Amino acid sequence: MTTADPLLAVSGLSKSFVLHHQAKRIAGVHGLSFSVARGQLCALVGASGSGKSTVLKCIYRTYRPAAGRILLAGEPPIDLASCDEHAVLAVRRHRLSFITQFLHCVPRQSALEVVAAPLLARGVAREEARARARRQLAELGIPERLWDVPPATFSGGERQRVNIARALVAEPELLLADEPTASLDADAAALVERALRARRAAGGAIIAVFHDPALVARLADAVVHLPAPGVPCAA
Ligand SMILES: Nc1ncnc2c1ncn2[C@@H]1O[C@H](COP(=O)(O)OP(=O)(O)OP(=O)(O)O)[C@@H](O)[C@H]1O
Ligand SMILES: [Mg+2]
Repeated sequence: MTTADPLLAVSGLSKSFVLHHQAKRIAGVHGLSFSVARGQLCALVGASGSGKSTVLKCIYRTYRPAAGRILLAGEPPIDLASCDEHAVLAVRRHRLSFITQFLHCVPRQSALEVVAAPLLARGVAREEARARARRQLAELGIPERLWDVPPATFSGGERQRVNIARALVAEPELLLADEPTASLDADAAALVERALRARRAAGGAIIAVFHDPALVARLADAVVHLPAPGVPCAA
Protein backbone atom coordinates (compact mmCIF):
# COMPACT_ATOMS: atom_id res chain seq x y z
CA MET A 1 0.00 0.00 0.00
CA THR A 2 1.33 3.48 -0.82
CA THR A 3 0.71 6.89 0.69
CA ALA A 4 -1.85 7.31 -2.12
CA ASP A 5 -3.85 4.82 -0.07
CA PRO A 6 -3.02 5.91 3.49
CA LEU A 7 -4.17 4.35 6.74
CA LEU A 8 -4.27 7.82 8.30
CA ALA A 9 -4.53 11.13 6.44
CA VAL A 10 -4.15 14.37 8.38
CA SER A 11 -5.15 17.58 6.60
CA GLY A 12 -5.18 21.18 7.76
CA LEU A 13 -4.74 20.19 11.40
CA SER A 14 -4.73 23.13 13.79
CA LYS A 15 -4.78 23.30 17.56
CA SER A 16 -4.07 26.25 19.82
CA PHE A 17 -4.27 26.72 23.55
CA VAL A 18 -5.81 29.61 25.40
CA LEU A 19 -4.14 30.64 28.63
CA HIS A 20 -7.12 32.31 30.25
CA HIS A 21 -5.29 33.85 33.19
CA GLN A 22 -2.91 35.61 30.76
CA ALA A 23 -5.53 36.19 28.01
CA LYS A 24 -3.03 34.62 25.58
CA ARG A 25 -3.37 32.15 22.72
CA ILE A 26 -0.49 29.75 22.06
CA ALA A 27 -0.23 27.97 18.71
CA GLY A 28 0.28 24.23 19.15
CA VAL A 29 0.16 23.34 15.45
CA HIS A 30 -1.22 25.28 12.49
CA GLY A 31 -2.40 23.83 9.17
CA LEU A 32 -0.46 20.55 9.19
CA SER A 33 -1.08 17.91 6.49
CA PHE A 34 0.58 14.51 6.10
CA SER A 35 -0.32 10.86 5.80
CA VAL A 36 0.98 7.45 6.79
CA ALA A 37 0.44 4.08 5.13
CA ARG A 38 0.44 0.58 6.57
CA GLY A 39 3.95 -0.78 7.02
CA GLN A 40 5.39 2.73 7.17
CA LEU A 41 7.08 4.71 9.97
CA CYS A 42 6.56 8.45 9.77
CA ALA A 43 8.76 10.61 12.01
CA LEU A 44 7.64 14.05 13.23
CA VAL A 45 10.63 16.37 13.48
CA GLY A 46 10.85 19.94 14.75
CA ALA A 47 12.20 22.22 17.46
CA SER A 48 11.04 21.96 21.05
CA GLY A 49 7.59 23.55 21.22
CA SER A 50 6.89 23.09 17.49
CA GLY A 51 3.88 20.90 18.28
CA LYS A 52 5.06 17.28 17.84
CA SER A 53 3.37 16.00 21.01
CA THR A 54 0.31 18.12 20.23
CA VAL A 55 -0.09 16.38 16.86
CA LEU A 56 0.09 12.93 18.47
CA LYS A 57 -2.39 13.98 21.16
CA CYS A 58 -4.80 15.29 18.52
CA ILE A 59 -4.65 11.96 16.65
CA TYR A 60 -5.27 10.06 19.92
CA ARG A 61 -7.92 12.70 20.70
CA THR A 62 -6.44 13.60 24.06
CA TYR A 63 -6.89 17.04 22.49
CA ARG A 64 -9.78 17.96 20.22
CA PRO A 65 -8.38 19.79 17.17
CA ALA A 66 -9.68 23.28 16.39
CA ALA A 67 -9.66 22.60 12.64
CA GLY A 68 -8.70 19.97 10.12
CA ARG A 69 -9.39 16.31 9.44
CA ILE A 70 -7.73 13.14 10.74
CA LEU A 71 -9.14 10.41 8.52
CA LEU A 72 -8.59 6.82 9.62
CA ALA A 73 -9.24 4.41 6.75
CA GLY A 74 -12.10 1.95 7.17
CA GLU A 75 -15.58 1.07 6.05
CA PRO A 76 -16.61 3.82 6.56
CA PRO A 77 -13.54 6.00 7.30
CA ILE A 78 -13.56 7.76 10.69
CA ASP A 79 -12.59 11.40 11.18
CA LEU A 80 -10.78 11.36 14.53
CA ALA A 81 -10.86 15.15 14.61
CA SER A 82 -14.64 15.28 14.87
CA CYS A 83 -16.09 11.84 15.73
CA ASP A 84 -17.87 11.29 19.04
CA GLU A 85 -16.23 9.95 22.18
CA HIS A 86 -17.66 6.43 21.75
CA ALA A 87 -16.02 6.15 18.35
CA VAL A 88 -12.73 7.40 19.82
CA LEU A 89 -12.83 4.77 22.58
CA ALA A 90 -13.62 2.00 20.08
CA VAL A 91 -10.71 3.04 17.86
CA ARG A 92 -8.36 3.14 20.87
CA ARG A 93 -9.51 -0.28 22.00
CA HIS A 94 -9.19 -2.02 18.65
CA ARG A 95 -6.87 -0.12 16.32
CA LEU A 96 -4.76 2.58 17.97
CA SER A 97 -2.10 2.67 20.73
CA PHE A 98 -0.07 5.52 22.16
CA ILE A 99 3.33 5.21 23.80
CA THR A 100 3.21 8.31 25.98
CA GLN A 101 6.26 9.70 27.70
CA PHE A 102 5.23 8.35 31.09
CA LEU A 103 3.44 5.24 32.30
CA HIS A 104 0.25 5.94 34.22
CA CYS A 105 -1.08 2.80 35.81
CA VAL A 106 -3.15 1.46 38.66
CA PRO A 107 -0.86 1.40 41.74
CA ARG A 108 -1.06 -2.25 42.81
CA GLN A 109 -1.32 -3.92 39.38
CA SER A 110 1.59 -6.15 38.41
CA ALA A 111 3.57 -5.44 35.25
CA LEU A 112 1.99 -8.52 33.69
CA GLU A 113 -1.53 -7.27 34.44
CA VAL A 114 -0.69 -3.80 33.13
CA VAL A 115 0.52 -5.23 29.82
CA ALA A 116 -2.31 -7.77 29.50
CA ALA A 117 -5.02 -5.14 30.14
CA PRO A 118 -5.46 -3.92 26.53
CA LEU A 119 -5.95 -7.51 25.36
CA LEU A 120 -8.55 -8.21 28.06
CA ALA A 121 -10.35 -5.01 27.00
CA ARG A 122 -10.49 -6.42 23.47
CA GLY A 123 -12.08 -9.60 24.73
CA VAL A 124 -9.02 -11.87 24.53
CA ALA A 125 -9.25 -14.78 27.00
CA ARG A 126 -7.31 -14.28 30.23
CA GLU A 127 -4.71 -17.04 29.78
CA GLU A 128 -3.96 -16.06 26.20
CA ALA A 129 -3.70 -12.40 27.21
CA ARG A 130 -1.22 -13.27 29.96
CA ALA A 131 0.83 -15.47 27.63
CA ARG A 132 1.07 -12.69 25.04
CA ALA A 133 1.94 -10.17 27.76
CA ARG A 134 4.77 -12.43 28.97
CA ARG A 135 6.15 -12.70 25.44
CA GLN A 136 6.00 -8.94 24.98
CA LEU A 137 7.74 -8.25 28.31
CA ALA A 138 10.47 -10.78 27.43
CA GLU A 139 10.92 -9.22 23.99
CA LEU A 140 11.56 -5.86 25.62
CA GLY A 141 14.06 -7.30 28.07
CA ILE A 142 12.05 -7.01 31.30
CA PRO A 143 13.43 -9.77 33.57
CA GLU A 144 10.96 -12.44 34.62
CA ARG A 145 11.45 -11.69 38.34
CA LEU A 146 9.72 -8.32 37.75
CA TRP A 147 6.63 -9.58 35.92
CA ASP A 148 4.56 -10.01 39.10
CA VAL A 149 5.73 -6.73 40.64
CA PRO A 150 3.88 -3.37 40.27
CA PRO A 151 5.83 -1.08 37.91
CA ALA A 152 5.65 1.76 40.49
CA THR A 153 8.86 0.35 42.01
CA PHE A 154 10.68 -0.07 38.68
CA SER A 155 13.53 2.04 37.35
CA GLY A 156 12.57 4.72 34.82
CA GLY A 157 13.83 2.62 31.92
CA GLU A 158 12.03 -0.53 33.09
CA ARG A 159 8.79 1.39 33.54
CA GLN A 160 9.07 2.90 30.07
CA ARG A 161 9.52 -0.56 28.57
CA VAL A 162 6.37 -1.76 30.38
CA ASN A 163 4.63 1.24 28.85
CA ILE A 164 5.89 0.24 25.40
CA ALA A 165 4.96 -3.41 25.95
CA ARG A 166 1.41 -2.36 26.83
CA ALA A 167 1.14 -0.31 23.64
CA LEU A 168 2.56 -3.06 21.41
CA VAL A 169 0.90 -6.13 22.89
CA ALA A 170 -2.37 -5.69 21.00
CA GLU A 171 -0.49 -5.27 17.70
CA PRO A 172 -2.19 -1.95 16.87
CA GLU A 173 -2.79 -1.01 13.25
CA LEU A 174 -1.61 2.48 14.12
CA LEU A 175 0.98 3.19 16.81
CA LEU A 176 1.78 6.66 18.14
CA ALA A 177 5.09 6.99 19.98
CA ASP A 178 6.33 10.11 21.76
CA GLU A 179 10.09 9.84 22.40
CA PRO A 180 9.78 6.14 23.28
CA THR A 181 13.51 5.63 23.84
CA ALA A 182 14.30 8.90 25.63
CA SER A 183 14.84 7.33 29.06
CA LEU A 184 16.50 4.10 27.91
CA ASP A 185 20.11 2.93 27.82
CA ALA A 186 21.61 1.73 24.55
CA ASP A 187 20.71 -1.95 25.07
CA ALA A 188 17.10 -1.25 26.00
CA ALA A 189 16.75 1.28 23.16
CA ALA A 190 17.98 -1.38 20.72
CA LEU A 191 15.26 -3.77 21.94
CA VAL A 192 12.62 -1.09 21.43
CA GLU A 193 13.96 -0.30 17.97
CA ARG A 194 13.70 -3.99 17.09
CA ALA A 195 10.12 -4.13 18.40
CA LEU A 196 9.14 -1.07 16.31
CA ARG A 197 10.70 -2.64 13.21
CA ALA A 198 8.77 -5.85 13.87
CA ARG A 199 5.47 -3.96 14.20
CA ARG A 200 6.12 -2.17 10.93
CA ALA A 201 7.16 -5.40 9.18
CA ALA A 202 3.85 -6.92 10.30
CA GLY A 203 2.01 -4.10 8.49
CA GLY A 204 1.54 -1.63 11.34
CA ALA A 205 1.72 2.11 10.67
CA ILE A 206 3.77 4.15 13.14
CA ILE A 207 3.91 7.90 13.78
CA ALA A 208 6.81 8.68 16.09
CA VAL A 209 8.85 11.44 17.66
CA PHE A 210 12.47 10.51 18.44
CA HIS A 211 14.85 12.65 20.46
CA ASP A 212 17.76 11.02 18.64
CA PRO A 213 18.21 12.12 14.99
CA ALA A 214 20.16 8.89 14.29
CA LEU A 215 16.99 6.92 15.04
CA VAL A 216 15.02 9.06 12.60
CA ALA A 217 17.67 8.43 9.95
CA ARG A 218 17.62 4.66 10.57
CA LEU A 219 13.91 4.09 10.99
CA ALA A 220 11.82 6.70 9.19
CA ASP A 221 10.23 5.95 5.82
CA ALA A 222 8.92 9.52 5.77
CA VAL A 223 9.79 12.64 7.75
CA VAL A 224 7.34 15.44 8.52
CA HIS A 225 9.06 18.70 9.46
CA LEU A 226 7.12 20.97 11.77
CA PRO A 227 7.97 24.68 11.48
CA ALA A 228 9.27 26.69 14.43
CA PRO A 229 6.76 27.39 17.24
CA GLY A 230 3.99 29.73 16.11
CA VAL A 231 4.79 29.53 12.36
CA PRO A 232 2.01 28.13 10.12
CA CYS A 233 2.81 24.96 8.13
CA ALA A 234 3.51 25.41 4.40
CA ALA A 235 0.41 24.68 2.33
N1 LIG B 1 -2.17 21.55 27.37
C1 LIG B 1 -1.52 22.64 26.93
N2 LIG B 1 -1.84 23.87 27.42
C2 LIG B 1 -1.23 24.98 26.97
N3 LIG B 1 -0.25 24.97 26.05
C3 LIG B 1 0.12 23.77 25.55
C4 LIG B 1 -0.49 22.54 25.96
N4 LIG B 1 0.09 21.52 25.27
C5 LIG B 1 1.02 22.09 24.49
N5 LIG B 1 1.03 23.43 24.64
C6 LIG B 1 1.90 24.39 23.92
O1 LIG B 1 1.89 24.06 22.54
C7 LIG B 1 3.19 24.21 21.98
C8 LIG B 1 3.62 22.89 21.38
O2 LIG B 1 3.87 21.97 22.45
P1 LIG B 1 4.29 20.45 22.21
O3 LIG B 1 4.38 19.80 23.54
O4 LIG B 1 3.38 19.86 21.21
O5 LIG B 1 5.74 20.63 21.55
P2 LIG B 1 6.83 19.54 21.16
O6 LIG B 1 7.20 19.80 19.74
O7 LIG B 1 6.32 18.19 21.52
O8 LIG B 1 8.05 19.95 22.10
P3 LIG B 1 9.17 19.01 22.82
O9 LIG B 1 10.15 18.65 21.74
O10 LIG B 1 9.78 19.94 23.82
O11 LIG B 1 8.49 17.84 23.43
C9 LIG B 1 4.09 24.69 23.11
O12 LIG B 1 4.20 26.08 23.02
C10 LIG B 1 3.34 24.28 24.35
O13 LIG B 1 3.62 25.13 25.41
MG1 LIG C 1 6.90 16.74 22.92
